[in-house]
Amino acid sequence: MFMNRKSSTNLTKSAPWFGADDMSDSGKTIAQKLQAHAQRLNEGQSWVKAALGATPAQSFLREVAGLRVDASRQPWDQALRRDLTTWSLQRGLDTFRNAQFAGEQVNRSEARAARHCLLRAPDHVLNAKHQSALAATRLRFLEVADKIRQDPNIKHVIHIGIGGSDLGPRLLVQALSSIHASGLDARAAKQPDIHFAGNGDLHELEAVIARLNPYDVQIVLCSKSFSTAETLVNAERLKAWMNNESQDLFKARSIAITANIKAAQAFGVSDCFDFPDWVGGRFSLWSPIGLSAAVAIGSEGFKSLLNGAWDMDRHWLESDPYENLPWQLGLLDVWHRNAMHYNTRCVVPYDARLSRFPAYLQQLEMESNGKSVDQAGRAIHHASAGLVWGEPGTNAQHSFFQWLHQGTEPTPVEFIMIERPDHSDHAAHRKLLANALGQSLALLKGKSLDQASAESVKLANPSWSREQLAAHRTFQGGRASTIISLNRLDPSSLGALISLFEHRVEVAGFLWGINSFDQWGVELGKELAIDIENHMNSSQIHPDPQTALWIKLLEV
Ligand code: F6P
Repeated sequence: MFMNRKSSTNLTKSAPWFGADDMSDSGKTIAQKLQAHAQRLNEGQSWVKAALGATPAQSFLREVAGLRVDASRQPWDQALRRDLTTWSLQRGLDTFRNAQFAGEQVNRSEARAARHCLLRAPDHVLNAKHQSALAATRLRFLEVADKIRQDPNIKHVIHIGIGGSDLGPRLLVQALSSIHASGLDARAAKQPDIHFAGNGDLHELEAVIARLNPYDVQIVLCSKSFSTAETLVNAERLKAWMNNESQDLFKARSIAITANIKAAQAFGVSDCFDFPDWVGGRFSLWSPIGLSAAVAIGSEGFKSLLNGAWDMDRHWLESDPYENLPWQLGLLDVWHRNAMHYNTRCVVPYDARLSRFPAYLQQLEMESNGKSVDQAGRAIHHASAGLVWGEPGTNAQHSFFQWLHQGTEPTPVEFIMIERPDHSDHAAHRKLLANALGQSLALLKGKSLDQASAESVKLANPSWSREQLAAHRTFQGGRASTIISLNRLDPSSLGALISLFEHRVEVAGFLWGINSFDQWGVELGKELAIDIENHMNSSQIHPDPQTALWIKLLEV
């Protein structure tokens, strides 16, 4: 799998171990070491044997900000981690991290900083950094959230937005509002229901409003640009729905969260919150974009979310790289892609409330690191982000786990567990956790042909031998997984979890040499859609024959 030293020129094309400009001796030495590690760990699947017999001292189990992360069942060991860490330091990851936090324009194609971390910093940190306006906005939007939450006239909030203006708030509401409706919060009985409509397909919104009375509704319009087509389609429909009931009801009951206040006002919303353009959409849930979530969990809950994230931020900013969780997991992500050549990573939360977490991660990881050029616009010659995907467990065990265990594409899995349930059936919860642990062990351990043959099973097909059936019941094993556990699913632990994933994305993006903070790849499709829509609305024939054919067939 790995080329030897003689072909080092080729190596630069297939792995990021050499920086684009770094052909120094120290750069070459560390690259050679990393290759040797890959050979050593893969040979006879030695990493699997080591992982199965790991002592606590050899395992990778870290506890940070209320999270436990166990990455012991991965194709790495202490020696590799040390060399990967050295490599990342040689590449200047610490300088990049500090520069990002200090507000340098790490998003070079848009000439912007990426300071979303500041949104969760406590007031005294913001004041010291001359960012007291951020603290003031936070105070104001959380006050508004509590007001909406306690207003007896507001029974429903409709949150409109897409991408980063939807996935984060939707995740938070789904993950956390049931906790706050189950007795932990005395005001819960009165809190409004939160509904989401993001899709450009109006069926989603129609299904929501069909059941509601416009007088009971508060609208929260989220769009950084306030020009996103889907959001405007939904907003127009809501405006018509409300104003049809009473003129100006829409204006009275709408709040816009945007970096383009003028556009929101021109649309007819006067009540607005803005946020700086250095907050990327997929990093914006900490800003007033989180308003609907703050309504669902209350201002104290939201502050606790921010505090949990900030705990992880401090760990990221201050702890030793070798002990630093986002740093190490980011290195593992790079190792997966560029040494193990895993194309995808599966994330399985063993908690139904986290069912939107994989979708949230898809934007975070794939919009950030699904790139083929470096910051300067030069082609990169190594793999960058792969596909991240998943579904909650145990549901997933009854759908795609067959593929994970016996398919031909070894894929690392991340199991996310919640240690303490918010219901009282601890036996049922133990069963759930046992399933997560069992799956992780099965992926690693597998079951050999001999083991399968030795088991006495009934032969459904009498003409078959035991060995024949055993082949179907064999598990290759040697499949990597990480276990992440949260003590409880609460705002603080979820904040820490999301912050951990944000930073590991930054680590991997930096080491791949790409800009994790732009998203030019979403533009072409949008442009072509506008052009096609114009053709649909006119008698002009579209220049692409197949598109022209479809326009005719669809007759819209
Ligand atoms: O199309 C991608 C994207 O630009 C995302 O990056 C963003 O989160 C989403 O659209 C929504 O954008 P906006 O918040 O400007 O409506």
